Amino acid sequence: MSEISTIYKISIIAFTLFCGVISGSGCPVLECWFVQEKPGHGGGFSVPMSQEKSLMFIRTEAYSEETMSELHPPADISPSRIYYPAGTFCSAALNPAKGSVNKPKCEINPFMPHASMVRWTSALTDSAQSPVYLQDDWFSVAAQGLDEQLTLSNIMRAPSASKEPKVILSVSSKTPVVRSRLGEPVLLDCGFWVDPSSPVHGSGFSVEWRYQFQVEGRLVLAYDGKNDRFAETSETGADIDITGLYETGNASLILEESRVRHSGTYICTVYLPHLLAQVAVDLEIVKPPSLSIYPSPLPLLVPGQVLLIQCEASGFAPHTLDLGWEFTGADGKSRSLGQGGVTGHRQASDGTFSQSSRLELDSSKLGLGRGGDITCVAKHDGGTRRATATLNVIGVSAPSIEDSMAMVAVALVLYGMIKFLSWTFSSSDSSDSELEDKKKT
Ligand SMILES: *[C@@H]1O[C@H](CO)[C@@H](O)[C@H](O)[C@H]1NC(C)=O
Repeated sequence: MSEISTIYKISIIAFTLFCGVISGSGCPVLECWFVQEKPGHGGGFSVPMSQEKSLMFIRTEAYSEETMSELHPPADISPSRIYYPAGTFCSAALNPAKGSVNKPKCEINPFMPHASMVRWTSALTDSAQSPVYLQDDWFSVAAQGLDEQLTLSNIMRAPSASKEPKVILSVSSKTPVVRSRLGEPVLLDCGFWVDPSSPVHGSGFSVEWRYQFQVEGRLVLAYDGKNDRFAETSETGADIDITGLYETGNASLILEESRVRHSGTYICTVYLPHLLAQVAVDLEIVKPPSLSIYPSPLPLLVPGQVLLIQCEASGFAPHTLDLGWEFTGADGKSRSLGQGGVTGHRQASDGTFSQSSRLELDSSKLGLGRGGDITCVAKHDGGTRRATATLNVIGVSAPSIEDSMAMVAVALVLYGMIKFLSWTFSSSDSSDSELEDKKKT
């Protein structure tokens, strides 16, 4: 009896472990595209590419050979494009919920180890490398996790065409998209990992941060780890933490004070001898606008007269802004007065933008009644901003409810007075005539 219960317990434990391996480990089965140049094309500007479905079963220590054999790859994926890589793929961001339509993006490319041409890596490539080591099959894998939580670039080596490549170099960022308020310090995350059992481990590395915006590109920072030297750059206020770089592979870029010109894409590249991997981090500097309404205060509006008012939005970034006008009457109800005439953008020397909207206020056309609050509304990525000015309309021809009631009251009072006076007079008249009548008699 006790034996049975022991077997029962063991099987439960085994089952739990197995399920943990399959679902709870955070190590995903990654669907990827295997993209390579079509064979038979010798370079040129537009090299035709082929794209095949591929699958990566991430190996972990808990993954035994038996578990691997129980995985059933889909039939539409060629067995030659199924890989069983090991190392640094385990992340919740790459592991979507079962049945989720949102999937991580992943692409595999063949990779050719080569000596880098960049100055701060020159010391790396003269280190003696085993050519045999480099002659194996190499791949680079670029993956983007869910919800902008991770971007990763791994260089894998598969000894003699095996299907079990091993990650040798991994570069990743937990902040692929960064939004920062203007003027605040910014941290662009980038970290790297080198397989400690690889011959390239310990033979030096270099780190480079480049900035790219549209066609403009510049070097932000480059560190030659072999010679422990920073390259000269024109960039100021950008740094990396050298201690963290050596201790944990933390290559994060620190910008002391964010400016509008910092908006753009930053590429973190880590070089090892003959290898490199890079990830991109998008930085957007955000500042909501300040609003003012002119003229201030608003002059009295006479019906029939047209008042031109202007809302000036300034000091904002990025440049996308939605300007509009609202009117709140005496009854407390708000309604839109439209966009007005919106001008083009102007850019200040600090890179922030300004823009304005003009509105023609015509009380008869817009139905402004006796006036109310005029509000300028600016919708921006950094938040919605509002500015309000009070508008008074004088000598309104169409009376308001209060006016009508007052007029009725006045009319009633007048009527009452007239009635009273006429009664007093007529009664005194009659009494006089009565008296006279009596006198006559
Ligand atoms: C990397 O270094 C920066 C700056 O020192 C630090 O703020 C950040 O938390 C570090 N990241 C990790 C993952 O340790």
